[in-house]
Amino acid sequence: MDSIRIQGGIALQGKVRIQGSKNASLPVLAATLLVREGSVIRNCPRITDVFSMVSLLKSLGCSVCWQETGIFVDSSNVRKGKMPREAVTGMRSSLCLLGALIGRCGEVAMEYPGGCVIGERPIDLHLTALSQMGVTFREAGGQLCASADRLQGAHIILPFPSVGATENIILAGVAAEGETVLEGAAREPEILTLCRYLCCCGACIEGAGSSKIVVRGGRRLCGTEFRVPADRIVAGTYLLGCIGVGGSVFLEHAPVEELDAVILTAEQMGGHVCRSRDGLYVQAPARPLPVKLVTSPYPGFPTDLQSVALAVSSGGSGCTDIEETIFENRFRIAEDLKKMGACIEQADSRRVRVRGVEKLHGTQVEARELRGGAALVTAGLMAEGESLVRGCSFIYRGYENICRDFRELGARVTSV
Ligand code: UD1
Repeated sequence: MDSIRIQGGIALQGKVRIQGSKNASLPVLAATLLVREGSVIRNCPRITDVFSMVSLLKSLGCSVCWQETGIFVDSSNVRKGKMPREAVTGMRSSLCLLGALIGRCGEVAMEYPGGCVIGERPIDLHLTALSQMGVTFREAGGQLCASADRLQGAHIILPFPSVGATENIILAGVAAEGETVLEGAAREPEILTLCRYLCCCGACIEGAGSSKIVVRGGRRLCGTEFRVPADRIVAGTYLLGCIGVGGSVFLEHAPVEELDAVILTAEQMGGHVCRSRDGLYVQAPARPLPVKLVTSPYPGFPTDLQSVALAVSSGGSGCTDIEETIFENRFRIAEDLKKMGACIEQADSRRVRVRGVEKLHGTQVEARELRGGAALVTAGLMAEGESLVRGCSFIYRGYENICRDFRELGARVTSV
C-alpha cells in the first residue's frame, strides 16, 4: 500500500476530524523518560513516527502500550539500551531523546538523527546549548556520544529559534541543577505543549510560548495523564486543500488559535474561513487568488505547509511568489507539479514564482518526503483525471489516514 490513487476534480464537501499532533506527541513521549512513573499520553496519532518513538522508548527499557485512552509509558526502569538504528535515523524527532536521556541517565550514544530530506538540518545549536549545560560530546563508531557528570542550568541564547534545540534545552533543563534561562526560544505551540506536560508532572517552567523561557531544574516529576492537542499542520493541509480543490468543509477540532497565519493566507486566496469553538468552516473560492508567501518561525506561515500552498497556487489565478526561509529543498515537489501541468519558475533555492494554470492534469508522481507527499495528494485532488502518488510511506509518517480523511470530504482516493 505504498501508492495513493486519486480521481481528481471533485469539490470537497463535509466534515473531517483532525488527528492529534505529531510534532507535539513526539517530544512529549521523549519527555516521559524524565518521569520515573507511568504517564498516559492521550490523542497521539497512529502514525509511523509515533510507532518509531514507541519502539525507541521500549528499547530503552520503558514499558509502553497503546491503551484505549492513549499511550501508557512507564519509565521507572530505563537502561542504556541500544536504540534501533532505523528509528533514530528515520526521524528528526529522535533528537529529543538527546536532552531527555542526558537528563535521565547522564549519558547517551545514538546515531545522527534523520528525518525528511528537506535540507541540511544541522544540529549545531543543540550541541552548543547542551555543552553550556555541562555536556561533552564525541563521535565514536559513527555515533554521537554525549555525557555529563553534572548537568547544570545555564544562560543560553539561541541565535535562531530552533524548535528541536528549544525542546532539548527544556528537557535537559528540567533535570539540571539550578536555573536555565533560554533566550531566543522557539514559540511554536508544540513547545507550549511540551512545557505543559512537564509542568503537569511537577516541573517548574515559566515563559513557554514566549522567546524567553526559564526552567528551574532538579524537581522530582510524577506521572500524569495528558492530552496532546490536534495537529495544526494536518488541519492546515485540509484547509488549504479545500481552497485548492474547491467546495466547503468543516475541520472538527482544528486548533483554531494556532492557525492565524494559515487562515490569513487562505483568506487572501479568496476563501471564507469561519472560526468556531469546535473547529473551522472553510468555503473555497472559484479559483485561488495569487498571494505573496514567506515561511517563518511561529507565529509566521509554517514551512510545513509551504508545499501544500505551492500545489494550491499552481491551480490558482495569477502569479504567486513563495519564499522559503527555514529549510532549503522544500521545492523538490516543483518538478512533480510541473509534470501535472504546473508552471513554476525557481529563482533560487529559496524562491519560486508560480503562474497559476486553469487546470492541472492527473499523472504519476513520487512523494519524497512527508509534507511534499501530502501536497502531491492535494494536487492530485485538484487535477483533472487520475493521479497516482507513489512513495506514500513518507506521508504515513505524519498523517494517520490521509485517504480516509479526504474520502470523508467526498474525494475519490484509495491507497493501492
Ligand atoms: C521542527 C519540526 C518541523 C518543522 C520545523 C520548523 C518536529 C519534529 N519538527 O523541526 O516539522 O518544519 O520545526 O517549524 O517538530 N538549524 C540549525 N542548527 C540546528 C538546528 C536547526 O542550523 O542545530 C536550522 C535548520 O537547518 C533549519 C532551522 O534551523 O533551517 C529550523 O530548524 P528547527 O526549528 O530546529 O526544526 P526542527 O526542530 O528540525
